[in-house]
Amino acid sequence: MEIIVAPTPESAASVAAQAVLAGLPAGKDPVLGLATGSSPLGLYAELAAAVADGRADFSAAKGFALDEYVGLPATHPESYRQVLVREVCEVIGLPVDGLNVPDGTGATLAELEAGAAAYDAAIAAAGGIDVQILGIGANGHVGFNEPASSLSSRTRVKRLAARTRRDNARFFASESEVPTHCITQGLGTVMDARRLVLIATGEAKANAVGAAVEGPLSASCPASILQWHANAIVVLDEAAAASLQ
Ligand code: F6R
Repeated sequence: MEIIVAPTPESAASVAAQAVLAGLPAGKDPVLGLATGSSPLGLYAELAAAVADGRADFSAAKGFALDEYVGLPATHPESYRQVLVREVCEVIGLPVDGLNVPDGTGATLAELEAGAAAYDAAIAAAGGIDVQILGIGANGHVGFNEPASSLSSRTRVKRLAARTRRDNARFFASESEVPTHCITQGLGTVMDARRLVLIATGEAKANAVGAAVEGPLSASCPASILQWHANAIVVLDEAAAASLQ
């Protein structure tokens, strides 16, 4: 696990984008794993700048979302499909028909679970993820693998932690509108990506970053599984690095 501390959120975004670009395969169309949320927005803007000046081209890329809410129609503006269309496809030029998102619209648990299994199969059929972009929750989650998630889990239905629903209430009219469940890539699925680039900024992430980077490898802090990945890069600003030794 490589840890890079940048002085500001902006410079962290730039360093993280370089880590993504350096992980793209030569001679084949890239397959990106895509996080939503606030953390990677600057990184996506840096990738857009790289596209604009000819250093990158995502026009034939595939993207795989980390997660999706259960129960929101795919057209809901806060569904992660719509968020990724707005914040990634339209920003870096990744084609919408190359965007894959777990299907959270199934009416029954069996349908949702079938969609989750199909998602892992689609990642495998695409040849696996070259670079998985990650944020971290204040409780140490990655994707929506909340504390106590199995470290070898595959894509599956999960209940969102109360803390996560509270944190994500800012995207909805009220906390009660935040879905209670999600489909998330499992930690085992995330770990299959050939490179992981996690970006965290701000003091609200400092404790989670400390546990992930310097704590024991433990399901209590799901992000600590990154310690076990041979090609994981964690990019922090100084505030997010504040609790590191
Ligand atoms: C998003 C995701 C989450 C976020 C995390 C941090 O697809 O999987 O793990 O990365 O909740 O969210 P922000 O960046 O909004 O603080």
